[in-house]
Amino acid sequence: DNAMSKRKVLLMGKSGAGKTSMRSIIFANYIARDCDRLGPTLEIEHAHVRFLGNMALHLWDCGGQETFMENYMTSQRDQIFKNVQVLIYVFDVESREIDKDYRNYQGCLEALLQNSPAATVFCLIHKMDLVSEENRNKVFQEKVEDIQRITNSTAERLHSSATIECHPSSIWDETLYKAWSAIVYHLVPNVTAMEQKLNQFADIIEADEILLFEKATFLVVAQVSKKEFTDHHRFEKVSNIIKQFKLSCSRMGAQFDSILVRNSEFSAFIDSFTNNTYIMSICDGNISTAAVSMNIKSARKHFE
Ligand code: GTP
Repeated sequence: DNAMSKRKVLLMGKSGAGKTSMRSIIFANYIARDCDRLGPTLEIEHAHVRFLGNMALHLWDCGGQETFMENYMTSQRDQIFKNVQVLIYVFDVESREIDKDYRNYQGCLEALLQNSPAATVFCLIHKMDLVSEENRNKVFQEKVEDIQRITNSTAERLHSSATIECHPSSIWDETLYKAWSAIVYHLVPNVTAMEQKLNQFADIIEADEILLFEKATFLVVAQVSKKEFTDHHRFEKVSNIIKQFKLSCSRMGAQFDSILVRNSEFSAFIDSFTNNTYIMSICDGNISTAAVSMNIKSARKHFE
């Protein structure tokens, strides 16, 4: 990898599936209710998003209208599917043309396996908010089975293998953050090394948990936990809440610097950390915040 590592990420799926909405919320500070106003993407929109300072995500948002899809598969095939690290394929859970959706997915996967066999595929079953809560899990599992079957048979036919991960998502809740954190986690180089350092740091400050958030998106990019927590959605909830808070601050021309939430059981301290990250430390409720804050300050240089 050179100093500025570029990661090519394809964002595909049928027209109206929600690709541009997701991208705008995660990377361009949109809020969910603004997404109604987004027009269809014509051909491909190239978004270069800087991430963690020296990483550029080159996001190809591929308009999903049928004529564009055909071009991707034919004349633009090699150009689009070469050198891809990640394909994000978005399925509209409420789509009425499931067979066609699956055929298009299969076409994309085939082109990907031929041009970038090492790429990872993330399938997002999107707009899950439209499915009633009691059916969500079942509906999601059914889609995953379909997608897995299609993926396996396509890979077999090409004597190849495909790595895929499926996530449910909706722009209306924190699942969006969970899905994108998984993607970004996969793209960030040296996560393990970073988490080892975080682990040592957690021992030093006696933290129960430490999270690192990427500054612009507030996605979790590294994490260590020293004890079991019961809420398995806490990371993406925090991402979602802090991102909203950050946006309301900026609408009033303010910027937030640090946040402290504490009660007798725990203290949660969010502070800007390196150039490109915020840190959140979860400690015992009695711990001195001044001490935590000072330790964070002195740890900074080891993480830059
Ligand atoms: P093309 O650009 O034509 O390929 O479409 P797209 O996939 O980029 O879809 P877009 O992001 O423009 O979203 C289409 C519509 O879906 C918009 O009106 C969004 O508000 C809506 N939408 C996006 N995500 C969600 C979601 O999670 N839930 C619900 N209910 N609606 C969503």
